[in-house]
Amino acid sequence: MTDHADAPQRAHTDFTEGFSYGSYLHLDTLLSAQHPLTDAHDERLFLLIHQVSELWLNLIVHELRAAMTLLDQGITDAPLKMLTRVVRAQEQLTQAWEVLKTMTPADYLQFRSAFGQASGFQSYQYRTVEFLLGNKNPVMLRPHAHRPDVHGPLAEVLAAPSLYDLTLRLLAARGLQVPEAVLHRDFTQPYTPNDEVLDAWLTVYRDTDRYWDLYELAEKLLDVEDNFRRWRFNHLTTVERTIGFKRGSGGTSGVGYLRQAVQIVLFPELWAVRTSL
Ligand code: HEM
Repeated sequence: MTDHADAPQRAHTDFTEGFSYGSYLHLDTLLSAQHPLTDAHDERLFLLIHQVSELWLNLIVHELRAAMTLLDQGITDAPLKMLTRVVRAQEQLTQAWEVLKTMTPADYLQFRSAFGQASGFQSYQYRTVEFLLGNKNPVMLRPHAHRPDVHGPLAEVLAAPSLYDLTLRLLAARGLQVPEAVLHRDFTQPYTPNDEVLDAWLTVYRDTDRYWDLYELAEKLLDVEDNFRRWRFNHLTTVERTIGFKRGSGGTSGVGYLRQAVQIVLFPELWAVRTSL
């Protein structure tokens, strides 16, 4: 018998003390979190995709926060690894639509009325990601007024500099011209494009050897926005093929609202620089 053939016999089997796989992962808790409200076959898929998405969002928030803490200290290399992980996690989020799309409108209608006004619109982790990436809108705090434990931290992210704001501070720290009004703007509001900032990025993109780290960081930010757009677009298409032009459970116009969200630009000068180069 080879070493490998008896591997199962040698495996650890006594877990009266210490961690087992299940206890380390809190697997019982995780698997007891699916509570379909109906007997409809597809409701489990619907619940599960949302829950899996929230887990990925949890990781994305964790990585973005860590990357931003380092950027705030002027460190540009370590955050790249974290942002790369964000990009990979976004790909997983976007892949989830492929599974969800196996649910037809008829399947969805079997359980739609059961969850009332619940909607991803009320996802506080998604809203945290939006705020961290700079899509600021104080109105989005409102659905969380009944949860001070959520509202408080979300309001803090709203008022804090976004990933792009921190990146622009780095440009300024490297001697590039970034207006004071941009560096000290009202962070609760979305960023508005600025010609001087575009010029600063042009300098970076025209001399990539000198500004290699900023250039690499900019391209990583673009990867994040690119993937965010893909997620939004896949959401939009999945919603349209599932509910058509009906209003959303969260109370918005539905597809119309989501279509406008696809137009959002997070890092405007990083797109504009392509035209100007
Ligand atoms: C067939 C499945 C789905 C339908 C029909 C659907 C429908 C909608 C609609 C109509 C909205 C607009 C807000 C509203 O009025 O409700 C919305 C927003 C949202 N949904 Fe979905 N959704 C689906 C799946 C998902 C999944 C799997 C996620 C993953 C977390 C998700 C996350 C979100 C988020 C984060 C928003 C807010 C977007 C924003 O404010 O820009 N949705 N959804």
